[in-house]
Amino acid sequence: MASLSISTLPTSTTTKKPFFSKTPSHVNKSRRFTVSCNAASDNNDKTVKNSDTPNLILPKTSLEMQNVDRRNLLLGLGGLYGATNLTTIPSAFGMPIAAPDIISHCASASSNLANTKDTIRGVACCPPVLSTDKPKDYVLPWNVKPRVRPAAQRASADYIEKYQKAIQAMRDLPDSHPHSWKQQGMIHCAYCNGGYTQEQSGHPDKQLQIHNSWLFFPFHRWYLYFYERILGKLINDPTFALPYWNWDNPSGMQLPAMFEDNGKKNPLFDPLRDAIHLPPAIFNVEYAGADTGDSCIKQIGINLSSMYRQMITNSCDTKRFFGGEFVAGNDPLTSEFNAPGTIEKGVHTAAHRWVGNRRMANGEDMGNFYSAGYDPLFYVHHANVDRMWKIWRDVDMKRHKDPDSSDWLNASYVFYDENENLVRVYNRDCVDIRRMGYVYERSEIPWIRSRPIARVKGANVAAKSLGVVQKVEDVVFPLKLNKTVKVLVKRPAINRTEEDKEKETEVLFLNGINFDGEKFLKFDVFVNDVDDGVQTTAADSEFAGSFAQLPHGHNMEMGTGEKMLMKSGSAYGITELLEDIEAEGDESVVVKLVPRIGCEEVTVGEIKIKLVPVPTV
Ligand code: C2O
Repeated sequence: MASLSISTLPTSTTTKKPFFSKTPSHVNKSRRFTVSCNAASDNNDKTVKNSDTPNLILPKTSLEMQNVDRRNLLLGLGGLYGATNLTTIPSAFGMPIAAPDIISHCASASSNLANTKDTIRGVACCPPVLSTDKPKDYVLPWNVKPRVRPAAQRASADYIEKYQKAIQAMRDLPDSHPHSWKQQGMIHCAYCNGGYTQEQSGHPDKQLQIHNSWLFFPFHRWYLYFYERILGKLINDPTFALPYWNWDNPSGMQLPAMFEDNGKKNPLFDPLRDAIHLPPAIFNVEYAGADTGDSCIKQIGINLSSMYRQMITNSCDTKRFFGGEFVAGNDPLTSEFNAPGTIEKGVHTAAHRWVGNRRMANGEDMGNFYSAGYDPLFYVHHANVDRMWKIWRDVDMKRHKDPDSSDWLNASYVFYDENENLVRVYNRDCVDIRRMGYVYERSEIPWIRSRPIARVKGANVAAKSLGVVQKVEDVVFPLKLNKTVKVLVKRPAINRTEEDKEKETEVLFLNGINFDGEKFLKFDVFVNDVDDGVQTTAADSEFAGSFAQLPHGHNMEMGTGEKMLMKSGSAYGITELLEDIEAEGDESVVVKLVPRIGCEEVTVGEIKIKLVPVPTV
């Protein structure tokens, strides 16, 4: 296998608070690590020597915190999990989303999928009824030896065999069994494609939705939790742990080899994947429906910078990382301000679409929410998404906090557990993965040193655009995104001190984004990227982030059958970006929106920059 030596990972020289924020990413390009760009299968530890970080100075809250036990911390705060009295804390602004009555109030998702005739996986997603008993509140088992989720690219042959056996056993169950491959896949369809309403929280007219809001991370954590325990039970191994698709590390950026068609009826294989993206193709974190033709090395560099943007720059506060608050009576798919979190709308959506078969009408399996759960890779992808939540909190424990509102802590879902009992679970019980009985095998996170580099530096870029680019106050909204648009946007303050930045972070908001929820769409957002002749990528500081959506099939006004556009907001932390492009003293910046795919009918209702408070303790 050919290996290439690349040096896209600069070494930091100094660290300040937060520890990487001041690290110029171009300081030192001499440290090298190797990655195989065309290895089809055996990317193991040997191919990536990225743990040689002798010069890297990181505070204790960084890499080694990946598996830290947060129990003590939480107990110190009064004990979040198991704190049943939380239910009595008055809600700040609403009612938490209550678990649906999945037995007697589940509708076929068909009424909400306009492309029903082509949905080859079927849209009847309701779970089987085993008894009429009400779900019981789930109690996390104590004192369990943690299951260790391995990075898929490093998994041993023995482990893979065990995992294949478990999935095969799942596939062998009759479709009607709550643990079957089919039923496990249907869970996603039901929770995402309109199977349930908010009836249990008093809003039978509103759908329940676990994407595009702060329910995204906790719902999927619980979903994987039971899926993993069911697999373990099927092979009688209480220590069994799911692998994670380590797409944020160069050694894991290919589709994990264990999922390939090995000619031996591999149960991990799913024929409904994009054949072009089998190894040695390198995953594109900014995938927009077409391959860019970038070299492997360039792609890896872009991926790492994009991960840095999403995990650090953009995710500067709780709401940016988790997504908007979703409480009873709301609908995260029709709210102008409710933005999905940065990981959800970024790398998470990109991987779904990159894996799904683009030749299928709905991008099955991974490329569409209704069918994603039928590909075993879905759970392995989501294990890494889940790992991002863990890492995000650990890299900056001072500022990176879980939501603390009772509306989030008490939101709940219902699943069949590994003993076929119907159980209700709460967000408040899933904030500590060690307490949940699992950890992630450590893997280097090289993106932490991949802060993007400014293409053009210099103050007054925006001032030079005066008269050429329209000021935001002169723009007629809604703004169509069928072509690239540029607007001059005023900043709330200039030359903010380090102290100011400790208290408040600068956020670029796009509100009232209207889009057709049946299409895969993506657009990119740039700041002061005025030279249209050069292609700016996520490796450049001017790239502020993107907005991407998988088809949801939630396009019908409930009960009316009328087509309805979806709405969302989107927001990007830009404090670091402005430092990098040296625009901190500028009164305005040029915001550029570039449609990539599916944006023909997309409109944006408002663009503004605001200061947002961040936790100070
Ligand atoms: Cu529920 Cu990756 O989606």
